[in-house]
Amino acid sequence: MPDQKSKAILNDIGTEELAHLEMVGTIVHQLTDGVDAKTLEEAGLGAYYTDHGVGVYPQAAAGWPWNAATIAVKGDPIADLQEDLAAEQKARATYEKLIDLCKDDQDVIDPLRFLREREVVHFQRFGEALRGVQDKLAEKKFYMNNNNNCR
Ligand SMILES: [Fe+2]
Repeated sequence: MPDQKSKAILNDIGTEELAHLEMVGTIVHQLTDGVDAKTLEEAGLGAYYTDHGVGVYPQAAAGWPWNAATIAVKGDPIADLQEDLAAEQKARATYEKLIDLCKDDQDVIDPLRFLREREVVHFQRFGEALRGVQDKLAEKKFYMNNNNNCR
């Protein structure tokens, strides 16, 4: 990132995302801890139970394990921030679908709503970073030369 403010925004969001991972893992753990295999199978989690028991394993809803290939980095601050903006919208949409699936389990819906709101905030913060980077890249270069030392 070409400016310090954008670096700070990225650091803030990245730190918070790790905390969100912990929250989601805790929700999954609390929902599955002590549940017998038959109940998990009836809930459509038989394959998951076979592979991971009730351990928290990072994967997409359809079973696709998380890996670094899901991280899109081009090495260009404008392209990368646009990617980050899209990722936040995808996360928001995922939380909305999870909330839809929770029916009336308020103990799960409330933290999911909180997490959804944070994705909206992350989107706004990435937008702030993008504007800062664009402004920085648009600045005219100013070079100083002290000719007195060149004699
Ligand atoms: Fe986020």
